[in-house]
Amino acid sequence: MACVLYPGSFDPIHNGHVELAEIASELFDEVVVAALVNPSKGDGLFDLEERMFLIGESLKHLSNVRTTKFNGLVVDLATEVGADFIIKGLRAVSDFESELQMAQMNTALSGVQTLFLPSASRSSFLASRLIREVIRLGGDVSQMVPELVQKHLEEKF
Ligand code: PNS
Repeated sequence: MACVLYPGSFDPIHNGHVELAEIASELFDEVVVAALVNPSKGDGLFDLEERMFLIGESLKHLSNVRTTKFNGLVVDLATEVGADFIIKGLRAVSDFESELQMAQMNTALSGVQTLFLPSASRSSFLASRLIREVIRLGGDVSQMVPELVQKHLEEKF
């Protein structure tokens, strides 16, 4: 029974994340999607509780996916949930350098391996940072995030 941890900031979850979780749920017996703090990204828009709620609602159609939040090292969470692997999405070559560095650090810390999945081309431009910016400036992100996420984003601004 293979369990995979899909960690991220998810501030907020968007359709590219949903797509990756759907693929992971087909490939693995159990998927844990976790909202974590990215120390390089500051406080963020949604707190971890809100992010976890929006992840859970957006992925409730996937029966083998559960959600959690964690404020600490991702490798400690991987141990806590019994994950065999960490999974990450790659949108473009530009993602690869930092993701590779994190993967190697996580392997050095605990031995856990990271698997990379390419995002589909229709999702490869999606980034939570851009979605926050577009909605803050009055743009339409309805094709880029789940409906509930759009509602919560609109309430924030
Ligand atoms: O969606 P993101 O911002 O690319 O996700 C990055 C995240 C949250 C997975 C990363 O910052 C992380 O693992 N944070 C937890 C703290 C940690 O373990 N840092 C060392 C990673 S090498």
